[in-house]
Amino acid sequence: MALLTIRKDEDPILRKVSRPVVKFDERLKQLAEDMIETMLDNEGVGLAGVQVGKLWRIITYDQHNEEGSFVMVNPEILAESGVCQDYEACLSVSDTYGLVERPSSITVRFQDVDGQERTLEADENLSRILCHEIDHLDGVLFIDKLIPEPDDAPDDETDQ
Ligand code: CO
Repeated sequence: MALLTIRKDEDPILRKVSRPVVKFDERLKQLAEDMIETMLDNEGVGLAGVQVGKLWRIITYDQHNEEGSFVMVNPEILAESGVCQDYEACLSVSDTYGLVERPSSITVRFQDVDGQERTLEADENLSRILCHEIDHLDGVLFIDKLIPEPDDAPDDETDQ
C-alpha cells in the first residue's frame, strides 16, 4: 500500500481522457488499493485514476458508511433519470465548491478488478459521486458544470 500524490488545479493531466483498462493484473489491483488508501487519507468520497496521474479508466468510492470502499473499472453510464442539485467539491480543485445538477439515479456498467462485468443502480448521493468520478475519466471537472446559486436575499436581510 502506498499513498499517491493527488494532481491538482492547473495540472494539465486533469483535462486528459483516460484509456480503457485491458489488463486485469496485479498492477491494476495495486493501483486500486493505493487509490482507496489515498482517497480515505484525504477524507474523499471518490477518486479517479487521473487524479493520481494514471490515465486508466478506474474509479474508487466510499460513502463513509458501513458498506466500505469500492472499485469500478471501465465504468459507463447506461441510463439516467431525474435531476438533483447539490454542492460538490473535489480533491483536485483547491478551495472551491459549488452547485451542480446531476441525474438523481443512474445505471452503471463496469468491471471489477478481476475483469468481471457488473451493473449497479445508484441514486441520490452515490449517483452524484459516480457521475463526478466518471466525468474525471473524460477530463471533465465539476467546475465546468456549476449552476447559479439560489438567491439567499431573505437571509441577508435578517442578518442586517
Ligand atoms: Co473530483
